[in-house]
Amino acid sequence: MIGGGYVGLVSGACFAEFGNDVAVVEAEPAKLTALREGRLPIYEPGLERLVADNVTAGRLTFGNDIAAAVAGAEAVFIAVGTPTRRGDGHADLTYVYAAAEQVAKAMSGYAVIVTKSTVPVGTGRRIAEIVRETCPGLEFDVASNPEFLREGSAIGDFMRPDRVVIGAESERAREVMRQIYRPLYLIEAPILFTGIETAELTKYAANSFLAMKVTFINEMADLCERIGADVHDVARGIGLDGRIGRKFLHPGPGFGGSCFPKDTLALVRIAQDAGAPSRLVETVVSVNDARKAAMAARIIAACGGSVRGRTVGVLGLTFKPETDDMRDSPAVPIVARLVEDGATVQAFDPEGMEQAKPLLPASIRYCTNAMEAATGADALVVVTEWNEFRALPPARLKAAMRGNVLVDLRNVYDPAAMVAAGFEYQSIGRK
Ligand SMILES: NC(=O)c1ccc[n+]([C@@H]2O[C@H](COP(=O)([O-])OP(=O)(O)OC[C@H]3O[C@@H](n4cnc5c(N)ncnc54)[C@H](O)[C@@H]3O)[C@@H](O)[C@H]2O)c1
Repeated sequence: MIGGGYVGLVSGACFAEFGNDVAVVEAEPAKLTALREGRLPIYEPGLERLVADNVTAGRLTFGNDIAAAVAGAEAVFIAVGTPTRRGDGHADLTYVYAAAEQVAKAMSGYAVIVTKSTVPVGTGRRIAEIVRETCPGLEFDVASNPEFLREGSAIGDFMRPDRVVIGAESERAREVMRQIYRPLYLIEAPILFTGIETAELTKYAANSFLAMKVTFINEMADLCERIGADVHDVARGIGLDGRIGRKFLHPGPGFGGSCFPKDTLALVRIAQDAGAPSRLVETVVSVNDARKAAMAARIIAACGGSVRGRTVGVLGLTFKPETDDMRDSPAVPIVARLVEDGATVQAFDPEGMEQAKPLLPASIRYCTNAMEAATGADALVVVTEWNEFRALPPARLKAAMRGNVLVDLRNVYDPAAMVAAGFEYQSIGRK
């Protein structure tokens, strides 16, 4: 497994749990040291235990020596990052191609080289070329096996997936992949074998569709606010229709995270380059960007038009709960704008504060709990719906604050209870 980030680590640990022998190769020395000492560089529920168990069982190892990891491997997974390339929105494939070259140099016999990273259509073919150029005569196949896990429930998603998609073009490669995923056949998880391009596109299509669903309900929330409707009832009313489905219909400050923003952008570029532009996804990208920017304005308006000299408490910084991932979190533009407009920001997040520090203005005060973030604040903003925020007693929260403005960007509170506690309460898409 080349890359010991979210996907490499979770996939590696789960493959080991399936009974496979897995060697994870991680290039970043600090991450590798942590992994070798039994500390995880990321927060993911249940992962520490799973890693520890499989290390103890001798099925999971960590190192930086690609040659040692690849020797004798039947499959080599590439799970390195594919961030947005600066300037043009394309996925940056530098790490993927570098890994492919390193793998080719290290291989001595047949193996399937599998991309688990989310990569644009055509990457699998390019990897095959790189391997052939680097190591002529080597026996290998390429395959695409995009990963659909969600941070926060990654292990469950990996162990009990809705489906596994495998793009592979030889029976030998398909058989290797079947063996690796053997336990999933026993639980009858759908395993779809496709062509390589199809598998590559399926990942972008899935993420773009989900991003579109989120963006749709966010627009409905704006409309609800104008006409006095309740977006949760609308979401339920449409979501109970089996053709639509209930998930990903929760309104909020706009999608973020390590996947949706970069994958929607990449699909836009893939589609444009292929001469079949995806106008829907283009619009999703711009609507979502505008929404994130508009959230700070919403908070400022709730504070009477200015936050200069005000103290704003922020609950939650990560892009969603149960992760420490801050990539493209709506908290980043929101907090930046509040500080720019003269607010003092005091924030609390259960897991993401270390990751947040390099991304947020230096003036932020980080608190040790939610109540401390509320203490003395003129306004309080819920940016991420961590469960522990739901249970905060409204009266105590209100009593700790100097002001009474509460902007709930995730609709975690009952409006009536908040008004009864004396808050000037604002949420998304409902009265
Ligand atoms: N994070 C998610 O929820 C998620 C879900 C599905 C798919 N994906 C996709 O999976 C891929 C990886 O995402 P991630 O979140 O795990 O990224 P990440 O940045 O957390 O991890 C990538 C890791 O690879 C390491 N690396 C890079 N080049 C290397 C090399 N040559 N040798 C060894 N290690 C190397 C990096 O140091 C880093 O630790 C991306 O394409 C992403 O789009 C991510």
